Amino acid sequence: MVAREVCRDVFWVGALDWDRRLFDELIPLPQGTSYNAYLIRGSEKTALIDTVDPTKEYELISNLVKLGVETIDYIIVNHAEQDHAGSLPMMLEFFPTAQIVTNEKCRDLLIALLHIPPERFRVIKDRETLSLGDRTLEFLLTPWTHWPETQVTFLREDRILFPCDLFGSHIATSDLFMRDERATYLAAKRYYAEIMMPFRASIRGHLGKVNALSVAMIAPSHGPVYQNPLFILDAYADWTSDAVKNEVVIPYSSMHGSTQKMVEYLVDALLARGITVQPFNLSKTDVGELAMALVDPATVVIATPTVLFGPHPQVVYATYLANLLKPKVRFASVIGSYGWGGKAVETIVKMLDHLKVEVLEPVMVRGLPDEAAMRGLDRLADDILKKHQEIRIT
Ligand code: FEO
Repeated sequence: MVAREVCRDVFWVGALDWDRRLFDELIPLPQGTSYNAYLIRGSEKTALIDTVDPTKEYELISNLVKLGVETIDYIIVNHAEQDHAGSLPMMLEFFPTAQIVTNEKCRDLLIALLHIPPERFRVIKDRETLSLGDRTLEFLLTPWTHWPETQVTFLREDRILFPCDLFGSHIATSDLFMRDERATYLAAKRYYAEIMMPFRASIRGHLGKVNALSVAMIAPSHGPVYQNPLFILDAYADWTSDAVKNEVVIPYSSMHGSTQKMVEYLVDALLARGITVQPFNLSKTDVGELAMALVDPATVVIATPTVLFGPHPQVVYATYLANLLKPKVRFASVIGSYGWGGKAVETIVKMLDHLKVEVLEPVMVRGLPDEAAMRGLDRLADDILKKHQEIRIT
């Protein structure tokens, strides 16, 4: 890869990871990802904003060499996670006079996690500035945009925000700037769902600070740069709001077809009532797509067969993830089948303790779904419609 100019004296010097297909051994990356790092050449000092995943550290060094960079005065670390900070040890060797500039929490994490020597740090506070000569960096602490130490950096003169993970998207693309709006929107929404959604309330608070900056460009550390910041700021305002949509998401598993039949019946019953539905067969689905589908809906219905005495393990996994991701769903229910008994409903409801949901009466059936089961599903569809009407989203 080569360094690319974002604007005068500001360069992208990161790395594209076209082949990576899994992040944290958990998050699917169907389009790969990028680790964006940025070099700012001030009239007196040079700063690097974030580094790259250690698997790509030689690409970062190579980009800097190609630009003729001999000295880096400051390495700004917005976030301590490895994919942005993992190349710091090598960078500190290459640039022995460089100071790491970050907040106190991030410094402590970098010392603990990467064993960076304490004397290499310059600690900044919220709203502190750092002069590069003709350029000024301003730091805003934005904790819990998805770790406790996260911060963003604002280049005042060019009005560029460097928010690290926040507003990012996992896409490896040769476009430095966003070109395909639809593809970027979907990738950014998936990224928000997988990484940012559990911190919705904190992020909503930070959006006000970002909006007040009158940002001209947003340069995140994954995915393309936004020349129209409102594109992603408006999307985040929507995703982090309390507003839910007239939608139901149904993650399900089925062993012998009974639960599948119930899901199909419920999908039709909801569609007939004007409600949008997204079923996800957990044997086939990509969990990133399920996460993305959980950003907006008012209701989730978890559908499971009974394995021994509880829900199917695939359903347990999806329920555990949904609970961790803390979507803003308002209502939940459980449907499914059993052979001789079990506690599938109790187990699933207990697992949803992070969600502030009202649980609607479940529909569990013994063996093949019969007429009574279908009547139960019609009743559940009616209950969902009524609840959606009560919160005025139909
Ligand atoms: Fe892209 Fe939280 O690391």
